[in-house]
Amino acid sequence: MIIAVDGPTASGKGTISKALAKHYGLPWLDTGLLYRAVGRQVALNGANADNSVEAVAACTFPDSLLDDPALRDEATGGLASRVSVHPEVRAALNKRQVDFANQPAGAVLDGRDIGTVIAPQADVKLFVTASAEIRAERRFKEMQARGATVDYETILADIRARDKRDTERANAPLKPAEDAHLLDTGNLTIGAAVQRAIALVDAKIENR
Ligand code: DC
Repeated sequence: MIIAVDGPTASGKGTISKALAKHYGLPWLDTGLLYRAVGRQVALNGANADNSVEAVAACTFPDSLLDDPALRDEATGGLASRVSVHPEVRAALNKRQVDFANQPAGAVLDGRDIGTVIAPQADVKLFVTASAEIRAERRFKEMQARGATVDYETILADIRARDKRDTERANAPLKPAEDAHLLDTGNLTIGAAVQRAIALVDAKIENR
């Protein structure tokens, strides 16, 4: 079984996919981490994320970079979004994701284009959303809890900018696949959102 989970930043897609993987005993890949690694490598190279040649050069990052806590930073998220615009960068990361999706054990993948590009044949597709304000508030609380000095309006502006870049890019933009189930987590607790996602997957499996 392949489960594709797409959605914007801070929508809850990561938490939901991780919980689904655990529930169904499937391997999980957070594909955003690959783009974040490229963004981080760009920074380490002192390169320009908007330059496709320099961004492609950063695609040969070492696997150890995937464990770097700096990948979680907002700054790296912004760089990831910028490098992800280049078709050559998407192509360089494509095989790794397609192979992961098609392993015999099945898989859960989360990202922006899993249901549309990486695994259009997925058995179940979820598109996880919430308003930009709610997502900014979540991110704000998360960063505050980590002891960071943060400003809500700055976070909201960053999230809007990232949404705009991710949805408006020409290549594999963030959008729900035609056969995706929309899951709005705006008014749901994490637990309730996970239960809703499991119910959607179970319903899909029963109807096969
Ligand atoms: O999910 P995330 O916030 O870790 O993703 C960081 C950026 O990577 C996101 O803004 C756009 C890009 N990305 C992508 O283009 N396609 C994916 N499948 C996953 C992430």
